[in-house]
Amino acid sequence: MPLPSLTDSARGFRPLPLVTREPRRELLVPRLGRPPRIHLWHIGCQMNEADREQLAEQFAEIGCIPEVPLEDADLAVLITCTVRANAEQKVYGKFRELIPWKRRRSGRAIALTGCMAVEHGAGLLQRLPDLDYVFDVREPDGFLAKLQAIHAGDIDSPVTLPASDRLSAYVPVMGGCNEMCTYCIVPFVRGRELSRPVAGIVSHVRRLVAGGVREVTLLGQNVNSYLDPATGARLPQLMEAVDAVEGLWRLRFLTSHPRNAVPDLFAAMRDLVSACEQLHLPVQAGDDGLLRRMRRLYRVADYRERIEQARAIVGPRLALSTDIIVGFCGESENEFMATEQLMREVRFDTVHLAAYSPRPGTAAARRDDDIPLAEKKRRLNHLLAVQRGIAAELNEGYVGGDVEVLVEGVADDGRLFGRTRENKVTWLPREAAMVGQLCAAKVVGASAWQLQAEPLRSAA
Ligand code: SAH
Ligand code: SF4
Ligand code: F3S
Repeated sequence: MPLPSLTDSARGFRPLPLVTREPRRELLVPRLGRPPRIHLWHIGCQMNEADREQLAEQFAEIGCIPEVPLEDADLAVLITCTVRANAEQKVYGKFRELIPWKRRRSGRAIALTGCMAVEHGAGLLQRLPDLDYVFDVREPDGFLAKLQAIHAGDIDSPVTLPASDRLSAYVPVMGGCNEMCTYCIVPFVRGRELSRPVAGIVSHVRRLVAGGVREVTLLGQNVNSYLDPATGARLPQLMEAVDAVEGLWRLRFLTSHPRNAVPDLFAAMRDLVSACEQLHLPVQAGDDGLLRRMRRLYRVADYRERIEQARAIVGPRLALSTDIIVGFCGESENEFMATEQLMREVRFDTVHLAAYSPRPGTAAARRDDDIPLAEKKRRLNHLLAVQRGIAAELNEGYVGGDVEVLVEGVADDGRLFGRTRENKVTWLPREAAMVGQLCAAKVVGASAWQLQAEPLRSAA
């Protein structure tokens, strides 16, 4: 099988230089006299979490045993992220940990997939002599076929995965991204937008709900540009179809682009029973010049307007979260302060802050990365402190009010934890409800990151 480089869909963008190496290395897991056992590891966004789950199913289908602890495994598969340099560093760190694991027993192998596999392709095999295989997670067939061929005598029937008792699941509804934010490598490694048809998504959700899942998050890099190739349905119509699945209690979606955050979507959030009062709408920066340099195709005023619309339509319970990058090329003190100003004005429940990290092949990588690391860290820490204050105040506002908690687990000390519809992690006293139940509760305490609540009654 040819080692993957950029896929066809990503080729429309300026390709990254890929190094190829001859002869290509073969997968080294030899025949074992039993089905190969596979350890999976992932880092990065929810899309990787969903990919991990799908890979596990695909391994099981060909008769391998996925999701075993590292010590029991013959093959380790790393599902990687390249959105910032530090994500890659973590992957290399994990890889270094695997080298002694691999050398301890003959026949062990390491494969790498995910976004770094597309970014670097076969070049990784050169750089990492202990790496055995690189494949594109979106096109794993060649890799699976190879595993199947080598182990044909040992694996002949699909493996049944143990039933999972999880309550929440991610459902990818589209892959790729057609935005070309100047700092971002995602369109290069995930390719162009491609939506799955509504019907397939609905049957996927039905299957999950039949298995006990109660909360589903529809996933896409730019999920609100969803467009069913068959019916022309957009995200609000998809949500309507998913909401109709009997037994589904909660519906969320990630990640929205402000450009496509339209009133129809907010109306769907208001009208659909399962749609949660939570919106993640990355703004990235609070200054028009910065936004332009980032190629975010909206102005700060547009963003404000969208937020006002969302609050007006969905209602005051709406919880908001965003992503912000600090220290982007040429970010002046005034521009930075404008971002802080926007945060103070909008008062997000959660802000994911990141220091700008130049990514090879992106438009911004050709510009001067002129904010020193120490200054990026200062800006990041400053905004973190600002946000901690805002989140604490917002959560304090919940005290005395009612929330609905989906109980997700029991902590070591016996207390229960779960999340509200607004996606706030909430603690309940032991025996307030059972895991898997919805618990109507009154908030009695709050910090910047969590709520404590007492049950009003047990619902479900
Ligand atoms: N499609 C989503 C998620 C993209 S990656 C979106 O548009 O928001 C998640 C976040 O990582 C981005 O929102 C951005 O804040 C951050 N990010 C992307 N590239 C980055 C880079 N080169 N340096 C720092 N942060 C980056
Ligand atoms: Fe990256 Fe921008 Fe696409 Fe998000 S919208 S994945 S930041 S290019
Ligand atoms: Fe990382 Fe790829 Fe997601 S680069 S953020 S894992 S799409």
